[in-house]
Amino acid sequence: MQQTTLITGVSSGIGLTTAKYLLQRGYTVYGSLRGGNAGADQLAKYPTFTPLTFDVTDRPAIHAAVQQIRETGHQLTGVVNNAGVAISGPVETLSEAQYRKQFDVNVFGLLAVCQETLPLLHAAQEAGLSPRIVNVGSVSGYLTSPFTTLYSASKFAVEALTDGMRRELLPFGIDVISIAPGPVKTPIWAKGREQTAAYRGTRYEKVLEKLGPYTEAAEADGVEPEVVAEAIYKALTDEKPNPNVLVMKRGWLVKLLRLTPKRFQDRFFLKRLAENRRY
Ligand SMILES: NC(=O)c1ccc[n+]([C@@H]2O[C@H](COP(=O)([O-])OP(=O)(O)OC[C@H]3O[C@@H](n4cnc5c(N)ncnc54)[C@H](OP(=O)(O)O)[C@@H]3O)[C@@H](O)[C@H]2O)c1
Repeated sequence: MQQTTLITGVSSGIGLTTAKYLLQRGYTVYGSLRGGNAGADQLAKYPTFTPLTFDVTDRPAIHAAVQQIRETGHQLTGVVNNAGVAISGPVETLSEAQYRKQFDVNVFGLLAVCQETLPLLHAAQEAGLSPRIVNVGSVSGYLTSPFTTLYSASKFAVEALTDGMRRELLPFGIDVISIAPGPVKTPIWAKGREQTAAYRGTRYEKVLEKLGPYTEAAEADGVEPEVVAEAIYKALTDEKPNPNVLVMKRGWLVKLLRLTPKRFQDRFFLKRLAENRRY
């Protein structure tokens, strides 16, 4: 059966890699770009790839893009909500524009894409197919590290949206799954490094000295984006996929840490930060 999937944010990183991964396995892929991106050149050689231009915070643009899919007559069998941003910095110093953007993209953008595509997913299910939504969460939706608190809050929201929507949609034959990566080697880390202005001239300035090496160590220990692409593919194709998948080295440690008292977790994070080690 021909599988047709929409992936948001295919210009780089996990979205670009997942698009290639699915295209190489015979999928028809619609990928969202925001214009003038390198990702488009890499994907253009695949005849079953169609770029769509929209920002996930622009509801009318999402609507128009979904209408484009509808007009092809393709049955949409998968939606991968991958587009995301990671805003870091002490909560005390983040501007309103920064904290709103974090939720506008990672949470409300994802929600808008789900709402706009669900009529097509229902239609696919009514035609006898098994449509799925895969939300790209994060280990930050399992545990909250200091200085990526707003990002974590947005990814905890992604987990809640995933579980709640799955329980609303399973009676209609639509599955909703979260793939939560730990550190992955993608451009998102470099984008984060530019956000140091949040610390300058504040009492948190000293933390920056620690946070640089701490973040670099986490990125260096990250997995390749292909590992996440494979997990997304499994979520789209396995007969009975795990609804919440943590994709990271030492994921067991995160799962264990989540069961410990919060004061223990506090000490763990502060000690790791002091030693320039993540988890
Ligand atoms: N890398 C990691 O370590 C890691 C770990 C856990 C979870 N994740 C999650 O994985 C997802 C992909 O991140 P990545 O690591 O692959 O980073 P990335 O290379 O920076 O890719 C992010 C993608 O999202 C798109 N995007 C950002 N804002 C958007 C908006 N408003 N509307 C539409 N598209 C937008 C970007 O497009 P532009 O190029 O146009 O900005 C880009 O295509 C994110 O949800 C992220 O939170 C990443």
